Amino acid sequence: MAEADERKIAARLDHAGRVRFRAMPETILVCVAWPYANTPLHAGQVAGAYLPADIFARYHRMRGNRVLMVSGSDAHGTPITVRAEAEGSTPEAIFERNHQSFLDTFARFGVSFDLFTSTNTANHRRVAQEMFTRLLEAGYIYRATQTLLYDPKAERFLPDRYVEGTCPKCGDANARGDQCDNCGSTLDALELINPRSRLSNATPEPRASEHFFLKLSAFNKRLTEWVSQQTHWRPAVKNFTLGLLREGLHDRAITRDIDWGIPVPVTGFEGKCLYVWFEAVIGYLSASIEWAEQHGVPEAWKACWEEPTTRTYYFQGKDNVPFHTTIWPAMLMGSADAGTTLNLPYDVPANQYVTMSGAKASSSRNWAVWMPDYLDRHDPDPLRYMLSAVMPETSDSDFTWTEYVRRNNDELVATWGNLVNRVVTFTRRNFDGCAPAKPAMLADASQRMLERVDATFALAGNHIEAVQLRAALQAAFAVAQDANRYLDDRAPWSAIRTDRESAAETLWVALNVISGLSTLLQPFMPFTSPKAWALVGNTGDLDAAGWQRSEVTGGAALPEPAPLFVKLDDSVAAEEKARLGT
Ligand code: MF3
Ligand code: ZN
Repeated sequence: MAEADERKIAARLDHAGRVRFRAMPETILVCVAWPYANTPLHAGQVAGAYLPADIFARYHRMRGNRVLMVSGSDAHGTPITVRAEAEGSTPEAIFERNHQSFLDTFARFGVSFDLFTSTNTANHRRVAQEMFTRLLEAGYIYRATQTLLYDPKAERFLPDRYVEGTCPKCGDANARGDQCDNCGSTLDALELINPRSRLSNATPEPRASEHFFLKLSAFNKRLTEWVSQQTHWRPAVKNFTLGLLREGLHDRAITRDIDWGIPVPVTGFEGKCLYVWFEAVIGYLSASIEWAEQHGVPEAWKACWEEPTTRTYYFQGKDNVPFHTTIWPAMLMGSADAGTTLNLPYDVPANQYVTMSGAKASSSRNWAVWMPDYLDRHDPDPLRYMLSAVMPETSDSDFTWTEYVRRNNDELVATWGNLVNRVVTFTRRNFDGCAPAKPAMLADASQRMLERVDATFALAGNHIEAVQLRAALQAAFAVAQDANRYLDDRAPWSAIRTDRESAAETLWVALNVISGLSTLLQPFMPFTSPKAWALVGNTGDLDAAGWQRSEVTGGAALPEPAPLFVKLDDSVAAEEKARLGT
């Protein structure tokens, strides 16, 4: 079909009765890193993955695109078993508690997953085992014997993290088998001097164990070609990945001697499980299948995974990049060779870190803003705004409570909230509680102001599509600043006494600016934006009205405004800061 015909078919009337042409809806799969269910979420993780994914998904839904946003709790792996042992509890109980906490955080913070499931489901187990079997049959998974440390007292093999000893690099006595916190070296547990088991304190002994390996080396060339073509990837993600590929990928063990996980689906391997990273990345696929089944359309996941025009985005923090730009794509390439072709990532917009008052977030030192605590004390939108404004898209950025309070007061309360409040209150008082009629003619400044809002939809939209969310928010917020200037220049507060028509024009324009701005800000602040949108007389659903300014209806009743944001005292910053690290 010619593009012009497609556009004609998709034409529809917008609120103001203008014909708008829109391209055919696209299908967008939004995949978000699966958090380990060992602690509640902190604001750094939210800024790294969950918030950007949510902004992106909300925008695309408003554009009328078909969006599926999925993730789930990463239930397996040593972070969960270590925590269970520390608490004298079971991995199931740790997983269950934190999974509920994640669901609660997403609901209260407005992270709009279509499905947030977990790796602890029968569906995921089946899909993960099928992928394993497919790659095994295609020859991309093979058996080999490994020498591993065995705890003779606990009678089990020890994951690297379960071994402690002296660092061979710096001599620190408390290095862990996977890494030394003192010198930062990555280690192999077998290298530790005087190793001891964290489980029993016994001296572990090397023993042979048979495992499966993923033949990553076979994909090095293909991955290099594929990554080189990704001109739209963030330079940091692309260059880091090309660096790994230049060094050359090594085959990796993808099974472990553990019992908390997904069993290896091969006889003779009882008591061994799939390595957590190998199965967790399969979660994106299994969650899509689960979502389709839940909605009574069991084949619907194929639109996301088999249609080549679908674009798949993987949101995550930078520490997850190798798994999403090399291991998972290699698995998908191997699956395609075995006859099951599934879409490769379109983009991997990984974020850098948000530090808290200058230091990296840490659970053990309690150096973090825990989401459940935050949400018990504050509203969601100010933190969504703050984290969007400092989103670490190209380099690490810092969160401080002082800056949080300042932005809340100067930007949300003074610039945006007051704009809404003073315009709506003043209009109601002077125009019988209603919006003034649409003026027959607009002064140049009024015309320019409206054009400025309308042009920002394309500008901010392009930024969001390129996953430059910080720039999109800046573009929208600059309009709020301009609107305040426009109001100050036209001073309807005095014009109302001398030139009622001019005041009516200014207020009609200002109400429209607020209408447009509430839509522009909706992906970022979905709790307060619909309130602002309704305050200028819009009815119905903001999201359904789409990514465009809903024109204010002359004569529409304006509800009585309540403040959108609460001004915070400086003492809030001091109190919150005092909670860090205690
Ligand atoms: N659980 C990992 C973490 O918290 C992320 C897993 S992402 C997945 O760092 F793709 F593997 F699921
Ligand atoms: Zn060391």
